[in-house]
Amino acid sequence: MDILSAHVPELFMPTYELIDLALTRYSAKEVAVALGVDPKTVRRWHLRETEPKPYIADAIRQRLLPLGEAPTGPAAFRFIDLFAGIGGLRLPFEKLGGRCVFTSEWDSYARKTYAANFHDGPEHTFAGDITQVHEDDVPDHDVLLAGFPCQPFSIAGVSKKNALGRAHGFADKTQGTLFFDVARIIAAKRPKALLLENVKNLVSHDKGRTFATIIDVLRNELGYHVHTKVINGKHFVPQNRERIMIVGFRDDVPFNWDDLELPPLEEGPKLDSILHREDGTDPAEWHYLEGEKRRVSGKYTLSDKLWEYLQNYAEKHRMKGNGFGFGLVTRDDTSRTLSARYYKDGSEILVSRGGRKNPRRLTPRECARLMGYDDTFRIPVSDTRAYMQFGNSVVVPVVAAIANVMVPLLDHMDTEKAADRKVA
Ligand SMILES: C[S@@+](CC[C@H](N)C(=O)[O-])C[C@H]1O[C@@H](n2cnc3c(N)ncnc32)[C@H](O)[C@@H]1O
Repeated sequence: MDILSAHVPELFMPTYELIDLALTRYSAKEVAVALGVDPKTVRRWHLRETEPKPYIADAIRQRLLPLGEAPTGPAAFRFIDLFAGIGGLRLPFEKLGGRCVFTSEWDSYARKTYAANFHDGPEHTFAGDITQVHEDDVPDHDVLLAGFPCQPFSIAGVSKKNALGRAHGFADKTQGTLFFDVARIIAAKRPKALLLENVKNLVSHDKGRTFATIIDVLRNELGYHVHTKVINGKHFVPQNRERIMIVGFRDDVPFNWDDLELPPLEEGPKLDSILHREDGTDPAEWHYLEGEKRRVSGKYTLSDKLWEYLQNYAEKHRMKGNGFGFGLVTRDDTSRTLSARYYKDGSEILVSRGGRKNPRRLTPRECARLMGYDDTFRIPVSDTRAYMQFGNSVVVPVVAAIANVMVPLLDHMDTEKAADRKVA
């Protein structure tokens, strides 16, 4: 039983019992609306007159039951979640027994999704703009997680010296950037470990100077043992998505990228594993699907006008010898990188509907799956917001693979410290 199951017994409840539980909290009509069925159907399930389809159990857990109790008692380790988005970095560290004690995210829609998926106790603080938080107000923690936005910055000519009046050298190099906010928290709190995530382009940004500065600050100003690697999400999900992962440790622990369990790239899953099944068994939310077979709702199909525009645009660029254009996929393919602007025209990932039919966009639930979120992850925002949030997110199983190697090393650091103390 994992951490989630221990806190959420409803995960194991049979469907009839889940229906009864939902009906202790909501009317049959409310349950019916949430599940996209007739209230009479709900009453028949309650009376055991008819049997609900298998996806109903997941749908009830997702849409009608509150999150489990906020965790209490001792945790294996404490961590903070900066530039948290919807919590993609948090999920694996929490599953490994960590307790999130501080989150920073300023976008109200991302905060809504985050709050719908994580239940925190009184020792947790949910802050907004990190630039407005003094580092001394961040609680002590073992692990710092940050998917900081790649904000262009120049390493030369920073006129203002440290705004907080501290004499750290890194302030000279990174003042005014969001990485500075990560760095000043590391400097003040000295977590045992950190995990930073960013787009692959960070490595080559400004001829490699930006990345070199970040690594220099972490290694030489802050004294961390730093390991970096570009990892493709395609190891786990049917999406080509390369991201730079930066792992750091306060002590010299035996971290090795080779210890990560990454399934071979060429054996990665295909889109069939994340697309709606359209055979009546898909557990996704009713508003993404329609009809008895639970086919993808027609609202995701591109209009004639947009499809024509995308085809013309691609053709124009093809004539010029450019590779720009849409990415048309089938169930046997992997996709391009899902971007935060997917809501605009969906052009990077269009699902073929066969023949001469217009293709369709992915639904937000399919985007969640494409980023490695399981179907219990709640999506309480509009489609536009959901596309932006998943397009900005990490691939969760990539983070899990890293967390699996990082977290045991935290104990290693404790042991060394205890031994040191004994000798002293
Ligand atoms: C690349 S996304 C991180 C996504 C996250 N790793 C996930 O898996 O969902 C960066 C996030 O930082 C947030 N952000 C940007 N500037 C911020 C600030 N000054 N304070 C707090 N959050 C900020 C953005 O709203 C955005 O959600």
